[in-house]
This record gives sequence, C-alpha cells and structure tokens, in this order.
Amino acid sequence: MHLCSHSFLSILHSQFLEMGDFVVFAIFFMQIFYITGAKVPAVIVFGDSSVDAGNNNQIDTVLRSNFRPYGRDFFGGKATGRFSNGRVPPDFISEAFGLRPFVPAFLDPAYNISDFATGVCFASAGTGYDNATSAVLSVIPLWREVEYYKEYQTKLRSYLGDEKANTVISEAVYLISMGTNDFLENYYTLPDRKSQYNVTQYQDYLVSIAELFVKELYALGARKVSLGGLPPMGCLPLERTTSFFAGNQDTCKDEYNKVALVFNEKMSYLVKQLNVELSGSNIVFSNPYAIFQHIVRKPSFFGFETAAVACCATGFFEMGYMCNQFNPFTCTDANKFVFWDSFHPTEKTNKIISQHLFKTVISKLSS
Ligand SMILES: *[C@@H]1O[C@H](CO)[C@@H](O)[C@H](O)[C@H]1NC(C)=O
Ligand SMILES: *[C@@H]1O[C@H](CO)[C@@H](O)[C@H](O)[C@H]1NC(C)=O
Ligand SMILES: *[C@@H]1O[C@H](CO)[C@@H](O)[C@H](O)[C@H]1NC(C)=O
Repeated sequence: MHLCSHSFLSILHSQFLEMGDFVVFAIFFMQIFYITGAKVPAVIVFGDSSVDAGNNNQIDTVLRSNFRPYGRDFFGGKATGRFSNGRVPPDFISEAFGLRPFVPAFLDPAYNISDFATGVCFASAGTGYDNATSAVLSVIPLWREVEYYKEYQTKLRSYLGDEKANTVISEAVYLISMGTNDFLENYYTLPDRKSQYNVTQYQDYLVSIAELFVKELYALGARKVSLGGLPPMGCLPLERTTSFFAGNQDTCKDEYNKVALVFNEKMSYLVKQLNVELSGSNIVFSNPYAIFQHIVRKPSFFGFETAAVACCATGFFEMGYMCNQFNPFTCTDANKFVFWDSFHPTEKTNKIISQHLFKTVISKLSS
C-alpha cells in the first residue's frame, strides 16, 4: 500500500512539470492562503474597464459591453458590461479571499446593499486619474467614483450598524486599477494635455492624483489598498494595429511600453512613501507588467495560440459596439487568445494575471 502514496507523489510531480496544470496548483495554493489569512470581509474596486463590472450600463456613454459576445463565458453566459468574454481580475481576487466569485457593480439595479456588503465595484470603463480622460467618452470620473463610495458607506452603516460597517471599511481590500486610458485615450490622442505637459510631467501629474486619491480613501477609513500598475500597453492589439499602419513592423509599440515602465516605477515609489506616511495602512503595488509581458512574448507557454490579434471580430481594432454578435469573424475558443477585443484581455489572461498578483502581493493584505 505504500506504493499508493508514492505513485500519488509521482503523479503530482509529473503534473507539476506540465504548464497546463499550473493553474490547478495555483488554485490549490490560493485555498491555503485564504484559510490561513485573516478574513477579508469585502473587496472594493475603483478604476476603469480593466475592472468595471457594468457601471457603464447605467450611464449615458457609448463605451459599453452589455451585449453578446461579451460575457459569453461568464456565469450564465451573461453580458454584464465587463469588457471580456468572462470574469475580470477583481472577480478572481474576491474568490481567492473566499468571498463571492464576482464583484457586482454599484449602479447595477439587480444588486443592493446586502450584496455590496461583501464586495462592490465603482469602476467605469474609459475613465482615468485625469478628469479630462473621463470626459472624452462621458464616463464616470474618479472623483465621482469616490462620491459613490461615500454613498455606499452611508448605506452600509444603516444596513450593518456603525460598528460592523466600520470594521468592513477598515478590513476590506481596496483594488485600484486605471491609468492606461490617461495615456492612450487622452494624452496620445488629443492635443490638450500634450500641449500642457511633456510625458514625464504628465506621469507626475497622474501620480499626484493617485496620491491624493489614496489619501482620501485612507481618510474615509480604508487601510488595505492594492494600487495597480500599467500593463505593457504598447502591446494591446489596437496599438499594434495603429503602429503597423504607421509603417512599422507588426510589433508592440515600444514608446508606450517604456512610458508604462516609468509610470510603474513612480507608482511603486509612491506606494513606499504612502506606507510610511499613513500610519496603520498596508498598501501594495500590484504590478501586472512583467507577467503580462511574459504572456505576450510567449503565449504558447501559457497555452495560448496568439497575442497579436484579439478574439472578437477581426481582432485588429474592434471593441465595444464594433465587437458584436453580427460579426462573423469572432473566434470560437477565447482560451486560445490572450486578448478578447483589441483593448482587453480574455478571461483566461485575467485569471493568470490575477492569480499571480494574488499569490505574490495581494494575499499579503489579509494579514
Ligand atoms: C436586497 O434584495 C434582496 C433580493 O432581491 C431582498 O430580499 C432584500 O430584502 C434586499 N435588501 C435590502 C437591504 O434592501
Ligand atoms: C476633477 O474634478 C473635480 C470636480 O470638478 C474637482 O473637484 C477636482 O479637483 C478635479 N481634479 C483635478 C486633479 O483637477
Ligand atoms: C519634461 O520637461 C522637464 C522640465 O522642463 C524636463 O526636465 C524633462 O526632461 C522633460 N521630459 C521629457 C521626456 O522631455
């Protein structure tokens, strides 16, 4: 019978060598994390389409995704307004903390405070740190996400009572993810900010807004914060396509990737400063750049077929209304693609990145 445990170990060992099983093991280790860590009562989300769970469905903007094929791999195949075929990172992070496997949008009328008490999303696709970015497509500016959060606190206090609500507020994990739109939708597309700031100055401007934002959350009672970094945004299929039509090879736009790297360094430094300055805070920098770059450079290593084009429509430039069920070119298996539409990752990519960030940094917030 001793052979039994031995062969179990060798199966375990051989599976370890297979990349396809990496995810299985990551889930296994994540379960250990949330059994041993202190309980996180809620996940609270601010940011853009990288984390929006459907707030844009309720506002007057063209930047939407609450129609097929968006959401076709989500629970019930529902197009919630998430910019992916399935879940986005906060959904996986909430699940990893032992909470619900998704985080509902604050403006979604299907949910109320009894749902939001364990997780709520204030994010809005198309927004950024800069007010001028959210104005481009009339989406929710960051300051209004904060107003909604204050409204949430009031509702939470009347629902749970002051004492319990205050515990949720201070023990919750706050996920912040935005910045890509400030550069791609605003700075590099419209003339205003470029005439006011060079790129270094604009990066510093955004970092100063991030600083004020985290300090405001802290003043409102938040203590455990994950501040997100930028992905290699020059490798988004849309940027590759524009770069290609500008006469370059079909490769990532290096300039944008360099801007993201420098911005991430500045944010990482900000996080160090904030931890010193804000007593009792636990702030981490969740930097997706390296893992994302790894996926984009070696998609096959993670079981993908391509990172250069997206699944939806032709994969070169479509997102939002142009990625719809009438387009005949959409792929059948999104798991073969790193990107879902020309600007957003597939659920599978979101999952790999979330699990990596959870394991390396975000799980530290539960202690
Ligand atoms: C929230 O919604 C559920 C079901 O829709 C309902 O049973 C519950 O009473 C509502 N809770 C509050 C606090 O409104
Ligand atoms: C953004 O707009 C709001 C509302 O008008 C304002 O309070 C805030 O100061 C602005 N932020 C910046 C950085 O200018
Ligand atoms: C932006 O301007 C500042 C101040 O004039 C300068 O120090 C910096 O090198 C400039 N950065 C770039 C990327 O041009």
